[in-house]
Order: sequence, then C-alpha cells, then structure tokens
Amino acid sequence: MEPVNIGVVGLGTVGGGTVDVLHRNSAEISRRAGREIRVSRAAVRDLDRSRSCDTSGITLTNDPFEVANDPDVRVVVELIGGETTAFEIVMEALEQGKHVVTANKALIATRGNEIFRAAHERGLVVAFEAAVAGGISIIKILREGLAGNRVKQLVGIVNGTSNYILTGMHERGSDFEPMLREAQALGYAESDPTFDIDGVDAAHKLTILASIAYGIPLDFSAVYTEGIGTIQGKDVSYAEDLGYRIKHLGIARRRGNRVDLRVHPCLIPETHLLASVDGVMNAILVEGDAVGQTIHYGAGAGANPTASSVVADIVDVVRTLTADPGNRVPHLAFQPTALTSKDVTPLGDIECAYYLRLLALDRPGVLAEIARILGENNVSIEAIRQQGTKNNDGNVSVVIVTHKTREMSMTRAIGAIEALPAIAEPVMRIRLDTLEA
Ligand code: NDP
Ligand code: HSE
Repeated sequence: MEPVNIGVVGLGTVGGGTVDVLHRNSAEISRRAGREIRVSRAAVRDLDRSRSCDTSGITLTNDPFEVANDPDVRVVVELIGGETTAFEIVMEALEQGKHVVTANKALIATRGNEIFRAAHERGLVVAFEAAVAGGISIIKILREGLAGNRVKQLVGIVNGTSNYILTGMHERGSDFEPMLREAQALGYAESDPTFDIDGVDAAHKLTILASIAYGIPLDFSAVYTEGIGTIQGKDVSYAEDLGYRIKHLGIARRRGNRVDLRVHPCLIPETHLLASVDGVMNAILVEGDAVGQTIHYGAGAGANPTASSVVADIVDVVRTLTADPGNRVPHLAFQPTALTSKDVTPLGDIECAYYLRLLALDRPGVLAEIARILGENNVSIEAIRQQGTKNNDGNVSVVIVTHKTREMSMTRAIGAIEALPAIAEPVMRIRLDTLEA
C-alpha cells in the first residue's frame, strides 16, 4: 500500500514528540497501520527556531492553513493549542476532506459538538485520545473497553501540573511557585498556566470524559471548577496528620437522574490507590455496574507520553481510511442521535464530607460556639484538632473534619462561623471523598 502523508500543525512539546516517535518507531508503526506513515508537512510559528525533532524530509511553513489545504495530506494533526486558530484549522481540514487528530482538550471541550457534527456529516474522524490524561488510553477504554457498562462514577487526577505541585508540597515541603516553574520547564503546563492552576484544564478533560461516560453532549459550562491556588502547605500537612492526601480531582458521578460534574481539590484517604499517584502521573478511577472499579494510570503530560496517544490515534485513523464511516466508533462513544442531556447536580445539592481550617481566638467557649453552629446546620463533626501554637494575636488554627453533608448546609454554617467575632480569617474549606462505590 502507498504511504500515507500526514501534516502536523505545531512542533512544540507534543508536536516534536510526535514526529520523534513516528521516526523512531516507524517500522513497527507501519506494521501495525498496514502502511508507512510519513510526516510530509508541518507548520510552526517561528521558522528560525531550532527543533527538538528531526525535520528532514518535512516541508515547513508558518502558515498552518497550508497544511490543512495540502492535497497530499490525508490526516491533519493539530498540536498548537487554543480555541480560535486551532478551531479554524480543524474546520478547514474537515472541509478539505481530511481526518484530524488533536491533543487539544480546550478545543474539544468547548467546540467539540460543532466539530464532531461537521466530521460526521463528511464521514471523517476527529481523534483526540491525547486530549485527556496524556499517555493513558482512557478515551479508548471508556468508548470501547467499557461499552457494556452503565458508568456509576469517574474520578480522575487529570492535570499533571497540579499533581506535580501538590506532590512537591507533600514530599519536599516545597512552595507553590517553584514547583509550578519546574512543571513549566518540563513542558507539562499549558501555555497559560492559570488553566492548570485554576482547574480549567481539568474541567476541559472532565467535560470530555463525562460526555463519553454518560452519552451527554459536551458542556464545559456545566462543570463546577476550582483550582489548587488556595491550598497552603499547612493544609497538605494537616491532611497528612489526619490520614489523608490532598489531590486535585475531576469527579463525574451519577446520582439518580442527575450527574455531579465538578473539579476541585479533595482530601482522599492516604490508603487509596489514587493517593499514591504522584508527580506528573495521572489516574482515572472508572466504576461501571458490570466491571466494578477500575483504575487507569500513567503519565499525564510530557512529550513522549502524549505523543504515544497522538500516534495511536494516527494509526487508528490510517487503519480505517478505507472503512465505511458508519462502522467507525462514534466520536463520543454513543451514536450522535443518541446523545441526551442530563441535569447536572447544582453545587448546593452535592453531598460530601469536609475539611475545615479556621483561625480562632484561643479562649473558652469558642469551639463550643463553632460546634453549635455546625449542629444547627446539620453538619456532624468527625474529628476536631487544634494545630500548632497560639500566634501573637492569640489565635490558633483549628482543623475540623465533618461527616457527609449537603454543600448548602456547609456553606450556611461557614457563613455563620465567619461572622463570629472570635474567627480571625475566612474559613478554608476542602471537600473530602472516600471514593467508595
Ligand atoms: P507548545 O507551546 O509546546 O507548542 C505549540 C506549537 O504550536 C509550537 O511549535 C508553535 O510554534 C506552534 N504554533 C502555535 N501557534 C501557531 C500558529 N498560529 N501557526 C503555526 N504554528 C503555531 O504546546 P504543547 O506542545 O505543550 O501543546 C500542544 C497541544 O497539546 C495543546 O492543545 C495542549 O493542551 C496539548 N497537550 C499538551 C500536553 C503537554 O504535556 N504539553 C499534554 C497533552 C495535551 P513555535 O514552536 O514556532 O512557537
Ligand atoms: N497541562 C496539562 C497537564 C498537559 O498538566 O496535565 C496535559 O494535558
């Protein structure tokens, strides 16, 4: 069979890794795909910049639309990121009858419904394995391996940068900023790292996973999103004292006719497998009614692991170039006509346990007042601890772990606690989840 020409838009961390893996493993990749896969064209922003990959034999341009319009290119691989130019390139490639592979979760989470509609109408594939959890084949697992299941919950550590920072705080007592700089230097962070820190990147990924798990249209705006920016070193160590680890989680959980869709830091038991997922590693727990709990682990970012998923998608697309489009696996696992919206649980209605950290005046009766407010709001205390010694103003840190309650009860209780004259600063609240079935 004739070689297949592909065009790569973007030769940064992921694009460079992709070209590298395609060169390095070309013989095995050809045996798997059934034909040679050749990168014939690539686009970059700066033609003078030196590249980490071998670009010999690749015609370089700084106009990404030249790649999308090249008649010899069958598959366009979009690896520039962002939601505007990337969207135009993908739509142009589809318009020109080309299949697309992308690692761009922002693009899929926010514009995926339009993109998949356009691809479906033309009988084309848009593959996006690398968009979620780097090197873990979680899209394939959910879409194909678990196709027989009704998914009960999906809980993932899906942002490598946040996990890298939290791990540094836990293991080395490091501060936030230097850990972020390390993650950036290693190529893990987004070009705008606030996407990682504020939870937006994880919310993009959860949007995609939830859609595939529950057969719902992509709806990024429905995900409650909180990042790790407010977590302090003392929260990491207080949690540790109590037998928990703080992880940044994406949670999609079925509850009757509704689904919880939320991304936030969370205390989990230190004995749970997810608690030992450190550094840039990602892991996703998927619980199906038939299979029970499964956990999928691997590198969540970086050139080679992400390239592994991009190349797997390229091979998949090449294998099915001649297949009848009707026989391909649907983009979002469920047939496009079978996607149905589901109500998302309002934040106030979610139920979980909580870790609270307060700075309170160290005098008789203060803890009793706090306990009274919690009780009046249906919040029951599991553990309470005074941490450290009194500061110069006579305040001391108090940590409380509660039993499960409704978020709206907790919010009301926190408001009342913060109004007490003996409370010196806003209450720190972190949700706590045992990840049980
Ligand atoms: P980089 O910033 O490292 O690379 C971006 C590349 O795109 C660069 O080569 C840049 O060119 C090129 N580029 C940007 N804009 C244009 C343009 N208008 N025209 C032509 N080329 C352009 O990003 P990453 O490789 O880290 O990320 C790429 C995508 O992969 C993003 O969607 C990201 O979210 C996703 N992703 C990243 C992971 C990671 O570990 N980094 C993991 C999983 C997904 P130049 O080099 O000349 O500046
Ligand atoms: N910035 C992302 C992360 C890259 O840190 O997980 C992988 O999607």
